[in-house]
Amino acid sequence: MKTPDPVWEGPDLSVCIAGVPFRNPVIAASGTFGYGREYADLLEIPRLGGICTKGLTLRPQPGNRGPRLHETPGGLMNSIGLENPGIPAFIEKELPGLRALGPVVIANLSGSAMEEYERGAALLNNTSIDMIELNISCPNVKAGGMAFGLEVETAAAVTALVRRAAPDKPLMVKLSPNAPDLEAVARSCVKAGADALSLVNTFKALAIDIRLRRPVFGNISAGLSGPAIRPLALRMVWELCETARVPVVGMGGISDAGDALEFLLAGAAAVQVGSATFANPRAMTEIIDGIGAYMKERGFKRTGELAIRKTGHCSLA
Ligand SMILES: Cc1cc2nc3c(=O)[nH]c(=O)nc-3n(C[C@H](O)[C@H](O)[C@H](O)COP(=O)(O)O)c2cc1C
Repeated sequence: MKTPDPVWEGPDLSVCIAGVPFRNPVIAASGTFGYGREYADLLEIPRLGGICTKGLTLRPQPGNRGPRLHETPGGLMNSIGLENPGIPAFIEKELPGLRALGPVVIANLSGSAMEEYERGAALLNNTSIDMIELNISCPNVKAGGMAFGLEVETAAAVTALVRRAAPDKPLMVKLSPNAPDLEAVARSCVKAGADALSLVNTFKALAIDIRLRRPVFGNISAGLSGPAIRPLALRMVWELCETARVPVVGMGGISDAGDALEFLLAGAAAVQVGSATFANPRAMTEIIDGIGAYMKERGFKRTGELAIRKTGHCSLA
């Protein structure tokens, strides 16, 4: 007698990136979700795939003075300046609570000097975080941040340094869309030890207050995020997915499941959601549900089947 087909319980949304298992491919983007607890009453946090912390530096940072946020049509400009309590205080005060929430914990590591990145990475190596996201793409600090991610040599050097300082943690490098040759920077990071890449951070942008006749932000420029950047970000993710030998995590203007699916179809292993959470704190759980519904409707069994073409990273091919 023929045994009946097992009952299909629906699509498996889990993904594995650099050896780290995520329950689904939706991750809260750095700087837009605090340390998790701030959102505890607004959405079901345990349902998220992962949470990236705000950019962490070795020492506490007060952040930038003056205006920090400015809305534009379809976009959000920010100049926060990496305000954070410093890595030792994060480890002591924030990490236990963040860990207890359930999703994968990714520490976004920032710095303004090589030595700072190195010491920060060494501290994070001895904690329970699941992964480091190396931020070499923040446009809002005067020294460091994006300066490390624009050129091949500096990007490779800081990646290699962090790789050595945190040998036990999977390393994802977050790239800047402002790099003149993004693909070359990506290649150099992978060669220097990156296990995954994430992109995009914000686009360097400008707003002028015509009433005060001066730039809105004290640092003159600021970082643009939100729906306005999505087609630009998607094009960059599409191109990197084709060549990168490691998983690519895509972000930039994702507001709903359709947006997220564009990145997954382009070959991204997972997505991050940032600005959308400010407008709709439940955006991420709605996106998870929407991806599941799309996969079920079309008979996809695993998230990895969504890519519409062969990617450079073989497990998705
Ligand atoms: C208010 C704000 C703060 C951010 N802070 C960080 C940060 O500390 N580190 C980082 O790597 N990216 C930071 N980002 C960039 C986001 O993580 C993300 O790369 C970018 O906003 C694009 O995604 P989105 O369009 O979904 O917001 C920040 C973005 C915003 C809007």
